[in-house]
Amino acid sequence: MKGLVCKVCGYVALDGNEDLCPVCQLKNVFEKKEDAYRAFDFKATSGETEKKHIPHFTIVQKCGLTPQSCDGVGVHIKIGEILHPSTPEHYIDTITFYVDNKLVSNVMLTADACPVAAIHLKNDVKCKVQVIENCNVHGRWFNEIEK
Ligand SMILES: [Fe+2]
Repeated sequence: MKGLVCKVCGYVALDGNEDLCPVCQLKNVFEKKEDAYRAFDFKATSGETEKKHIPHFTIVQKCGLTPQSCDGVGVHIKIGEILHPSTPEHYIDTITFYVDNKLVSNVMLTADACPVAAIHLKNDVKCKVQVIENCNVHGRWFNEIEK
């Protein structure tokens, strides 16, 4: 998929804002790329490579990390439907969360971490949550969910 990618940190600007990278806080760092990330129709995709890279969503109303009074919702991500390996040679180094194309969280991982991450949105309102993960060998992969 086409996209704007930060040349410094690899952040993809889904909102099209190329003024400032919100992750590394630098200006004039975006470049247009034809292959910024890969996105597949999850249901139509059966390859093992895809199943190990496409972010897999679980929406959780009460996960225990937030108080019972919290009206928010948890978004848990696993990479992928078949868990991606985490070895020093091959691992997921970033999981980036967006809501309606805007950055919400950027999680950096090493090979010592399982390729999973979570965010807790303050309000359980209808929105589109997108995730791009980066595999140090196989590049960036995208998935999204409407909740
Ligand atoms: Fe990979």
